[in-house]
Amino acid sequence: MLKIVIYIILLGIAVALVSGGVHLYRVSKRNASEMAQYEGKEITPKQLSGKTLVIYYSLSGHTQDIAERIQKMTGADMYRIQTVEKLNRWPWFYLILKKQLDDGVYPKLKEPLPDISKYETIFVGGPVWWYTVSTPMRAFLQQMNFQGKKVVPFTTQGSNYGTYFDYFNRAVRNADLQPSASFNNLPEKYNQAVDNKIATWINSLQ
Ligand SMILES: Cc1cc2nc3c(=O)[nH]c(=O)nc-3n(C[C@H](O)[C@H](O)[C@H](O)COP(=O)(O)O)c2cc1C
Repeated sequence: MLKIVIYIILLGIAVALVSGGVHLYRVSKRNASEMAQYEGKEITPKQLSGKTLVIYYSLSGHTQDIAERIQKMTGADMYRIQTVEKLNRWPWFYLILKKQLDDGVYPKLKEPLPDISKYETIFVGGPVWWYTVSTPMRAFLQQMNFQGKKVVPFTTQGSNYGTYFDYFNRAVRNADLQPSASFNNLPEKYNQAVDNKIATWINSLQ
């Protein structure tokens, strides 16, 4: 009996490893084909009119990396959304965040929130959590009014941004929404292509 249980557990682990491997393989193929269009000559981003601000939330650095690249290309000011309490990274933290998303429980944010009055264009970016907008970004959007501002949304994610932009576009009050962009977590070999993707996106803004 014990032997059968052990075999079933081992089979379960093998199935999980194989399907995880297939998923990673598919994602890396998709990434390679998306980024191929941005490889080659460096693309120069156009100068945006007026002052620009990049607002971002980042728990583990990926969104910060994209925000900093945008900042370098546009000369924008930066504002980082921060929670009052540090989010801990216990193994079950993914599940806690899922429950908070489902229950609409959002963290308290550090103040002051940014004064956006002097900016014409505002990039607003965050990570995808459970196929949607993270709880700190939701808390932020609840408190902001983007009346008269061009807002350029962006995300970072492992591979699937799900319904992020559906939620974001509804929650970003009174914004003049501009084309969005999403960035999968990618290895360093794509650095130049990622910069070209950002430059192409900036060039598509009005
Ligand atoms: C709680 C949680 C949920 C996540 N859910 C998704 C998801 O649904 N889809 C996805 O592609 N990546 C998901 N990820 C991966 C992050 O979106 C991705 O690593 C992102 O770039 C992290 O950004 P940051 O480093 O700026 O925090 C999730 C990460 C966390 C912590």
